[in-house]
Amino acid sequence: MSEILLELKDICKSYPDGSEKRVILDNVSLSVQAGEFAAVVGPSGSGKSTLLSVAGLLLSPDSGSILIAGKDVTGVSKKERTHIRRRQIGFVFQNHNLIPFLKTEDQLAFVQDKSLKDKIRTDDLLRELGIEKCRRQYPSKMSGGERQRAAIARAFVNDPDIIFADEPTASLDAERGRAVAEMIRAEVKRRGKAAVMVTHDTRILDLTDKVYRIENSRLVTER
Ligand SMILES: Nc1ncnc2c1ncn2[C@@H]1O[C@H](COP(=O)(O)OP(=O)(O)OP(=O)(O)O)[C@@H](O)[C@H]1O
Ligand SMILES: [Mg+2]
Repeated sequence: MSEILLELKDICKSYPDGSEKRVILDNVSLSVQAGEFAAVVGPSGSGKSTLLSVAGLLLSPDSGSILIAGKDVTGVSKKERTHIRRRQIGFVFQNHNLIPFLKTEDQLAFVQDKSLKDKIRTDDLLRELGIEKCRRQYPSKMSGGERQRAAIARAFVNDPDIIFADEPTASLDAERGRAVAEMIRAEVKRRGKAAVMVTHDTRILDLTDKVYRIENSRLVTER
């Protein structure tokens, strides 16, 4: 049996809404194994980004627990949380979030944990993602697809257990969007990572192993 890298158990999250509170996630549970690429779909405002933020330790749940590589990380200190995010989690956002004044290789070096001996080598990542020629380029000189691939390389640089991607293909045309999702898939399979991708693009769901939908604050398995 494969190792479960991400486990959410009975997560509840609400936001204050005037004097009321609005439930966004209602008892959401989810497990993602090593080598598994999961998708989360659902209408705008349904709570997909909230779910990724909670799972990625950017936002605390009201209740429930989060396990990363088997370890319960729900109540850890802020310092420990930052450490876990840096070492075990990689994020890819809709708009690459690259730093404008850094060349691709420096984007990776900037986030790279220098104490990591087993870190993935920048050369390998850039080659696997087909952006070696962008190594010394600034984001402004790269295409949308190249920028998104650089963001994926950056997300993988510390050899994280889990990748969270929030609409990573939304700013790309269909063909480039698909290529980006294929690359996330390839890295997940090659390196035995777990990935959760939020997407509106149903044409790329065939690349994922599982599809979940957020419906009325609940997470339901669609495929
Ligand atoms: N910090 C916040 N405070 C209050 N309400 C919030 C906050 N962040 C998000 N919300 C609300 O929670 C709901 C879920 O937001 P979320 O960003 O998770 O949706 P989403 O599914 O990612 O939507 P989209 O597809 O548009 O990105 C929305 O109605 C949003 O307005
Ligand atoms: Mg969102």
